[in-house]
Amino acid sequence: MSNKHKISVMISEDKLQEKIAEIGAKISADYEGKEIKLICILKGSIFFCCELAKRITVPVMLDFMQVSSYGSGTKSSGDIVIKKELDESIEGEHVIVVEDIIDSGNTLYRLMPMLEARNPEDICICTLLDKPDRREVDIDVKYNGFNIPDEFVVGYGLDYDQMYRNLPFIGVVHLDDEN
Ligand code: IMP
Ligand code: MG
Repeated sequence: MSNKHKISVMISEDKLQEKIAEIGAKISADYEGKEIKLICILKGSIFFCCELAKRITVPVMLDFMQVSSYGSGTKSSGDIVIKKELDESIEGEHVIVVEDIIDSGNTLYRLMPMLEARNPEDICICTLLDKPDRREVDIDVKYNGFNIPDEFVVGYGLDYDQMYRNLPFIGVVHLDDEN
């Protein structure tokens, strides 16, 4: 793995923290008196999901799922494969699917009906980032941190070839030949 990439900050750690607290407060108000289950979509959502869970004041359960979408390069197609299944049932529960970023929307377009078929009481999507310009299918997003332009971003769970997930900010990768 080359370490020659330059990474510029798109969204600072402070701005992320502030926004996550805001979303946490909104969820806490919207689900007052209820228990919720956050479904963290591995691996990218793990940082966001943990920070978000800490900001929610109603009772929270956590479960994890990993899906991969078949596609070439950085573009996903319609087909998804479940690589890690949820540990528990979501029947009758208030479910929030937590994503790192929505790009084409294809992954959630396939995943949501599969989860809805398991009869949760209600289910919605919460994403840290959204690239609306790239959307290929219609997705109903209830909570969204930031709309971002069509650029490949890393950090806060998001990777470039499995690297940079641990950056505490959202950054843009500039490849070597752009330096
Ligand atoms: P979608 O099915 O096209 O919406 O794919 C969403 C998934 O693609 C995300 O969960 C990420 O794993 C990945 N992805 C999309 N854009 C980026 C990016 O800018 N950086 C890193 N991963 C991305
Ligand atoms: Mg992902």
